Order: sequence, then C-alpha cells, then structure tokens
Amino acid sequence: MTSFSYAIATDIQFGEGASRQLAHHLLRLGFGRRLLLVTDAGLMEAGIPQSVAASLQESGFMPQLFTQVQPNPRDEDCLIGADAFLRFRADAVIAIGGGSAMDTAKAIALLGRQGGTPAEYADGHRTYGATAPIACLPTTAGTGSEVTRSAVITETKSHRKITLKHERLRPALAVLDPLLTRSLPPAITAATGVDALVHALEGYTCTVTQPVSQAFGAAAMPLIYRALPKAYRQPDDLAARSDMLLGSLLAGLCFGSSDVAAVHCLAEALGSLYDTPHGLANAVFLLPVLRYNASACGSQYANVARHMGVADAKLSDGDAVAALLDALGAWLHDLSIPTLSRLPEVRREDDERLVALALANGSTASNPRPLAADDYRAILEEAYRM
Ligand SMILES: [Fe+2]
Repeated sequence: MTSFSYAIATDIQFGEGASRQLAHHLLRLGFGRRLLLVTDAGLMEAGIPQSVAASLQESGFMPQLFTQVQPNPRDEDCLIGADAFLRFRADAVIAIGGGSAMDTAKAIALLGRQGGTPAEYADGHRTYGATAPIACLPTTAGTGSEVTRSAVITETKSHRKITLKHERLRPALAVLDPLLTRSLPPAITAATGVDALVHALEGYTCTVTQPVSQAFGAAAMPLIYRALPKAYRQPDDLAARSDMLLGSLLAGLCFGSSDVAAVHCLAEALGSLYDTPHGLANAVFLLPVLRYNASACGSQYANVARHMGVADAKLSDGDAVAALLDALGAWLHDLSIPTLSRLPEVRREDDERLVALALANGSTASNPRPLAADDYRAILEEAYRM
C-alpha cells in the first residue's frame, strides 16, 4: 500500500508581469510594512531590486535593501544580514534573485528572529523557532527555492555545505514573473536550467520519493528539457522563459518534498571547495551518476526518458536508458556546458576532500543506489575522463 505525506503552504503567483502585483499580495497575506529586500550586486546593476523597492514604497511599505548576497552563500553573510534585519527592525524578508538570494533570505529570516548560526540549526544544536515571513521573487529558472523548505549555506571555516531544512523556512509567498528572468545571460540560463532538470530527476528517482513529487517531476522534466535550449539561444523568447520558470517551480515542488541525490552531493562538494556555480557543478556529474545508478533504477530512468520524449513506449527499459544518456549528453553539449576537467579551479589533489564532503552530505542516503567512498571515487574518475 502506498503511504506518503505532502505539504506546502506557499502562496504561488505565476505570470508575465506578476511581480508588479507584489505589494497587493503582501498586503493580502498580512506581511508587515518593514521589508528587508535581500539581493545581490549583479541585480542591483540591472536595477531590478530598486524598481521593486520603489513600487513597494508607493504602496506604503518601508523597503530596505540588503545587497550582500554571494554565489554559494556563506554563513558569515547570513549573520551580517541577520544583523541588518535586527537594526532595521524588519517585519519580513523578501528575496529578489536566484537560489543564493533566496537561501540567504531564508537564513536571515531564521537568524534574525531566533539568533545563532546556520550550523547550529543544521547540526541539531538549536531547534527551528518561528522565522520572519519570507517572500521570493526568483530571477533565475533553476533552484525552486521559492517553494522549498531548505536553504544550502556554506560554513566558511570548514568549507562544508550545510542544509537548513524545516517547514518554517518555506516561503509564504512566491511570485514568479518570467519577465524577471529575461535578462539572464545565456551561460547562467544554461547552468541554472540544468540544476532545475537535476532537481526533477533526482526528486523523481531518489529513495524518499513519493507519488506527488513524482507527478511534479514528470511534468517538470519535459518542460525543462525542451525549453532550456530555446531560452539559451534566444534570451528574449518569453514563451521559453515562462516554460523554464514553470519547469523550475514544478521541479522545486518535486524535490522539495522528497530529496536530491548523488549529483547534488558531488555538486555541493565542488561548490564548497571552489565556488563553482551550482548548476555547472551539477552538470559535470550528471552523466557519470546516471550511469552509476542505472543498474539500480533502470526502469525509473526509462520512465524519465519516456516523459522527456526521448524514448517511446515500445523501447525496452535498457534501450530507453541508453537513449536518455545519449539525449542528455547532446543536450549538455548544445548548452556549451564544460566538463569537469575543463573547470580551471578544480585540482586533482583535492579529490579525497571532494569524496569526503560528498559522502558526508545527508542526501547520499537518498541516492537510488547505495554509495561508498570508492563509488564516489569511481564517479569522479569518470567525470574527469569525459
Ligand atoms: Fe540544486
């Protein structure tokens, strides 16, 4: 008999121009007036947070910008953000940006209300108390963090990626406006889009998956697989941008209530050692992990191939998995994603650190085929050979 649980309390608003209604939704949901807007320097250059702040001000809110978000967000910046939250006496936190901004905002909403450091929560030394309300305006189509209950933060002193995970970190509001993603440069579009596909794929096939996650994953994968090359080649293709944002949302609804697996364990290890962009780090491990897992979950991968439309129902599971690997290899190539050996920051002498970090990741246990250190070493070797 099937048994599972699925809960999501996020109010989702999706559509072209939806971000113009942000103030309306904040009022409707009872957010307070003093809003800490959490964003990064790149978006400030594009002027997006400033225009959100101006329209909030017109609607009677008091927005304050916190622009110190970095890729692969660090605990130190979350503490500085929590301090800004307290000094401003903020009522709520609004993330404007990609996964780094959203995860930093989640940590600020927690630390600003409850104190402590991210690691104290992740390691179980503190219990998750009530956070400040969180709203997210994603500007990339990738992380799905706007609907998940987790935030991945790097502990600066140990280079560990730690995961804060609690229902209280789930945003109260997610406003998804494809117009906000249109200025995303092609390389970032490609990398963040691959992350979204991996969320759907790992969320769909991991050991803790369940029917609702699988339904969202099955819907997300074909959308992302088809739309990403279009959004990459034609940044102004609003239909492709919209499909990508929808795909990443559905992928977030998929893995956010199951888990990710070995691709993410290796990707997070790489990101914590070298600051490699998260989507790129996922991309370099995708095919080696799929090959490793294929013996344990061939029928699920065959279904993935069928959902994505790269294998028809008549193909055997084995042939469908082969078609999936071929299709994803060509897809990554079309997106000009480099291989692991082409990443200049990666040093072979760090292999054992990478393996140890991946092994220590909580999601290793969710991988459909069990993994020991030697298995991670073999996957790493294969990633270098590609
Ligand atoms: Fe991810």
